[in-house]
Amino acid sequence: NAKTHYIAELRGLEEGENVRLAGWVQRKSELGGIVFIRMRDATGSVQVVLREGNLSEQELTAARGAGIEASIIVEGSLRRDPRAPGGLEVIASKFILVGDSKDFPIKPGVGEEFLLDNRHLHIRTTRMRNALMIRMEVMRATEEWFVNNGFVRVEAPTFVGAAVEGGATLFEVPYFGKKAYLTQSSQFYLEAAIFSFENVYTIQPSFRAEKSRTRRHLTEFWHAEAEMAWADLNGMMDVVESLVKYIVEKVVERASDKLEALGRRMEAIEGRFPRITYDEALELAKRKGAEIEWGEDFGTEVERLISLEFDLPVFVTHYPKKAKAFYHKQDPKRPEVVLCADLLAPEGIGEIVGGGQRIESENELISRIVEEGLNPEDYKWYLDLRRYGSVPHSGFGLGIERTIRWIAGLPHIRDAIPFPRTPVRLYP
Ligand code: 4AD
Ligand code: MG
Repeated sequence: NAKTHYIAELRGLEEGENVRLAGWVQRKSELGGIVFIRMRDATGSVQVVLREGNLSEQELTAARGAGIEASIIVEGSLRRDPRAPGGLEVIASKFILVGDSKDFPIKPGVGEEFLLDNRHLHIRTTRMRNALMIRMEVMRATEEWFVNNGFVRVEAPTFVGAAVEGGATLFEVPYFGKKAYLTQSSQFYLEAAIFSFENVYTIQPSFRAEKSRTRRHLTEFWHAEAEMAWADLNGMMDVVESLVKYIVEKVVERASDKLEALGRRMEAIEGRFPRITYDEALELAKRKGAEIEWGEDFGTEVERLISLEFDLPVFVTHYPKKAKAFYHKQDPKRPEVVLCADLLAPEGIGEIVGGGQRIESENELISRIVEEGLNPEDYKWYLDLRRYGSVPHSGFGLGIERTIRWIAGLPHIRDAIPFPRTPVRLYP
């Protein structure tokens, strides 16, 4: 075995205990002939002290020559030293250079684009590792909430034949002489599955040919989506609220050290999320100086203005019909608006969840499809769901990376995913 312990396990050991560690060189320095290596593994980092007398001349030469990010194996005894970072150091008695690393390109001061071009190396840095561990906890908590609440996981295809969220952001791919698209949302497939399982969810990628280069758009993002038979708009919002609170609570509980290292203060959320209508939000945005007409969807800037007004995530409901996709159910009391809700995260982050109640009548759905200039033929199977035991139902989609960006306080969505895809980035 390459190692007897992971670095995080050293805390629990006695002074003088012998350990064998395997990992990478994070930093290196030399003082009075003694080589100090800050060594990291998946779990943390520790100072290794390499001194003449304890090691052969060859081992010392190898240690002196080891570059940043060289992979190494170290054997030695554990010493408690309040002067060492973390209060621990390993006095090396054996050193093996496994894979040298010459001139590791990720250095302080290199530019953002350079880091993105070298993402395959950049993800080794402390900051990226913290962000990605928070991502893992967001994914885990999301999955947990659904399982704990009796939702059944159902996967949907990535290749699809028709748009869910409008033609403007569709990726077209050749498909044996036909056109296929990369899915924008698994919603329609989840809607099919409620007739089997009532409450269903999935967590998988969605794709948007979104040309806007913003801090909150990716062309490929992970989408946690749910669909619930018998639920109305309010029932849907209750589910979203409970899910989002659970995600925050668990991330704070399980990754507080990562949040702290990123300089992020985050606490579990108490209190109900406010619910305001589109009309109220529009007034608020206008008072803050936004130039927007009734009927338009809120863009990044308007959402930012609205979300800055609240300390908690806020639901905005009842958007104008023409601002939303065709499948949304119209408000029977006010047919120019639909029974939908977006959840805007605070601090200017904006939309992290979009959802609502779906049209359950076949005729109504056909007339909305036609009204939007779409072809009902393309939605034949989706219309079938209204023919065989249709039920009132609602659902939503939560953007995993947007949620991570908010919780971790990341300036840009791309750091919420290991290998981001944007209009200008397909490498690495
Ligand atoms: O609001 P959207 O477009 O809604 C839907 O796709 C619905 N069919 C979901 C459903 O009801 N099942 O997308 C849902 C969420 C957004 O709130 C946002 O968090 C995220 O997906 N999202 C994106 N995240 C990153 N980059 C993009 N380009 C995104 N587009 C949407
Ligand atoms: Mg939306």
